[in-house]
Amino acid sequence: MFVRSAKPSRLASYSISLQFRNMITAQAVVFSKHGEPKDVLSTHTYEIDEKNVPAGSIVVKTLGSPVNPSDINQVQGVYPSQPEKNTSLGTSEPSAVGGNEGLFEIIAVGDNVSKFSVGDWCIPTNVNFGTWRTHALATEAQMTKLPNPEQSKAAGGKKGLTINEGATISVNPLTAYLMLTHYVKLTPGKDWFIQNGGNSAVGKYASQIGKLLGINSISVVRDRDDLDSLIKDLKEENGATQVITEEQNGSKEFGPTVKGWVKETGGEIKLALNCVGGKNATGVARKLSNDGLMLTYGGMSMQPVILPTSLHIFKNITSSGFWVTKLLSGNPELKKKTLAQIVQWYENEELKVAPSQETKFDGSDLAEFYKRGVANSKSGKQLITY
Ligand SMILES: NC(=O)c1ccc[n+]([C@@H]2O[C@H](COP(=O)([O-])OP(=O)(O)OC[C@H]3O[C@@H](n4cnc5c(N)ncnc54)[C@H](OP(=O)(O)O)[C@@H]3O)[C@@H](O)[C@H]2O)c1
Repeated sequence: MFVRSAKPSRLASYSISLQFRNMITAQAVVFSKHGEPKDVLSTHTYEIDEKNVPAGSIVVKTLGSPVNPSDINQVQGVYPSQPEKNTSLGTSEPSAVGGNEGLFEIIAVGDNVSKFSVGDWCIPTNVNFGTWRTHALATEAQMTKLPNPEQSKAAGGKKGLTINEGATISVNPLTAYLMLTHYVKLTPGKDWFIQNGGNSAVGKYASQIGKLLGINSISVVRDRDDLDSLIKDLKEENGATQVITEEQNGSKEFGPTVKGWVKETGGEIKLALNCVGGKNATGVARKLSNDGLMLTYGGMSMQPVILPTSLHIFKNITSSGFWVTKLLSGNPELKKKTLAQIVQWYENEELKVAPSQETKFDGSDLAEFYKRGVANSKSGKQLITY
């Protein structure tokens, strides 16, 4: 038996124990039923035999894993993609491990493992792996290699990936890149996209990647006391061409200003990215040129998307959804190619990671760290490091 539940008397310990044949005592944050994370998440402790790794498998230790909005929705039971609940970790009830993104380091490999060596870095190949845990036993196919810092340097990169970059690479940067490149042909130097949630992690990647690709952008943000410094940050540090407030986005009087910007470059606003909904989405859709596309990928305001009939009839606007999980689950080659591009931009210091508030796990009770991460996630992206 390679993974087994730890005895209750050892539940509080988090250590590499030599007592039981090099057993690693691991912790995972599990849920057996859906509800608010503070009510349903708990810590399960189990052991992994690091000296008897099955053929074709690897043992990994976690370097970092974030709390994303979709992770919370998954625990709440309101997200369409769900991990399977089972007793493979020795839980008394069928349970799933929370979290979908994370960066891991390989600490042991079984026979016949060809892709990985000890010391390599990796991320889960697919969603629903369960990344809120200290260690995992995985098959080779369940993980995808990322260069560790020495490997990046050896390959000529200016720098290696940071833990934040690696742990948050598979959702938000990929989402931004794919929305900008997979649907509409935007002409560099001329065309524009408009997005709401301009200060979100996805929004910052979209404006940066837009700049790298030569595409102009308008980021819509909520008004705030320090608006000027946010505008400066989004323009100077995150590549946004223009930043406007929700009020300006919804104002008829402001429309000609936007038209003026677009006229200057001789292009069109061909794409709108919507992660807010409500009136905000209506405002960004109104700025699209004829035949433009609005991709809805989030619903932060919890308001429905309402589009004026005239936009459909007279401007032939298309409104469509984007879900990175769906797009990439059937297209591993696209995922590989997109990941390689993001890694290269990070290594060449061309792309900046969206900041995370990092909290280092101290070895106590892992579920408490993720519950706090969920509670704090309204004030910025939370990353638990190890
Ligand atoms: N469909 C997909 O494949 C996919 C992939 C990745 C992410 N997503 C979704 O994309 C969204 C953003 O994700 P993220 O990780 O980038 O989030 P994030 O960094 O946590 O940012 C959330 C953003 O939402 C804004 N916001 C929150 N409530 C709002 C409201 N009522 N009205 C207007 N804006 C509001 C915040 O604005 P302030 O800056 O003003 O606080 C913040 O900029 C989420 O809905 C996420 O689930 C979807």
